[in-house]
Amino acid sequence: MHTPLLFQPISFRSVTARNRIVVAPMCQYSAQDGLGSDWHVQHLGARAAGGAGIVMTEATHVSAIGRITPHCLGLWNADHQALLARLAKVITMCGSVPAIQIAHAGRKASSQVPWEGGKPIPLDQGGWQPVAPSALPAVRGATVPHALSASEVKDIVGQFAATARMAREAGFKIAEIHGAHGYLGHSFLSPVSNRRNDAYGGDLNGRARFLLEVVEAIRGEWPEDLPLWVRLSCTDWVEGGLTIEDTVAVARMLAATGKVDLVDCSSGGVSHEQKIPSLHPGYQVPFADAVRNQAGIATGAVGLITEPTHAAEIVANGRADVVLVARAMLADPAWPIRAAKALGVKPDLLPQYLRAAV
Ligand code: FNR
Repeated sequence: MHTPLLFQPISFRSVTARNRIVVAPMCQYSAQDGLGSDWHVQHLGARAAGGAGIVMTEATHVSAIGRITPHCLGLWNADHQALLARLAKVITMCGSVPAIQIAHAGRKASSQVPWEGGKPIPLDQGGWQPVAPSALPAVRGATVPHALSASEVKDIVGQFAATARMAREAGFKIAEIHGAHGYLGHSFLSPVSNRRNDAYGGDLNGRARFLLEVVEAIRGEWPEDLPLWVRLSCTDWVEGGLTIEDTVAVARMLAATGKVDLVDCSSGGVSHEQKIPSLHPGYQVPFADAVRNQAGIATGAVGLITEPTHAAEIVANGRADVVLVARAMLADPAWPIRAAKALGVKPDLLPQYLRAAV
């Protein structure tokens, strides 16, 4: 029987994944001082053994002040690197390609973990002052962020490169820059949060400069034969914010560098006034489709993709190259095995789990 494209291998540069299903980045809010634990090992290991082609870490931050919450993962010292190396090893052992999402939370840093409310943590309760392109808080009542000087921006670009170097040494094969959800990269791109009038602000070219400098700097440390992805919020879902047309233009800039291999197409997160007209299955897929087919770069589709036939359709019809699954994979680490069964495919699994697919 013909194997659906979803279950055919895919290659980016020298890296080949056994199928086109990606475990989406999912914060576990379970680290201490940026350092993960056995929790992260079991979480990512189980999902790799469950048959996904690629398993991505949660947002892994380049500095302490770049963390969303005090319990987010980081990669800026040797202890962090040792844990990340364990994660890359266990993902690889279980048959998946290990990917790392490299992040800086920008003005959304210093927040409580979601199950404590997710609100900004004030300075006198253990919070810290976030940094941002402009001194505009993400939500009312949050500590006003420090507007970065141009030389402070360069320092952060350097931190992204340093984290990428440590990730490479730790054994990761794909790096993804987190440029979505209102965090630092997105807050530079969006006119909602970037009111600068220097080289890092103004028109879309200026607002994209930070992201392009991060790409350039990471590529200085990330080998040519390994893929680099970028996650973008394709629309801000708010009047005066980024639109899909802007995102196609940014994707063209990324493609033109020759250094980026895929745009992971998410949306929203920069404005608390955002209004998503309809949250339906695959509601962000049209963005992956537009970027792929108008900017000429591979894309990932993500968001309310829970049914195997839906995932297969997206890839088969050329709307995206890979499908990222988050919540459905949280509920069921063996989602890819279930998807293979539903599509009548024999999945590529480790021998210990082969009988799960029969
Ligand atoms: C997320 N998401 C997310 N996105 C991201 O870029 N970096 C991250 O670290 C996280 N963390 C995170 C944690 C948890 C618990 C959830 C549920 C989600 C967003 C995620 O990757 C995905 O884009 C959305 O969840 C939409 O996909 P699903 O859940 O509809 O498949």
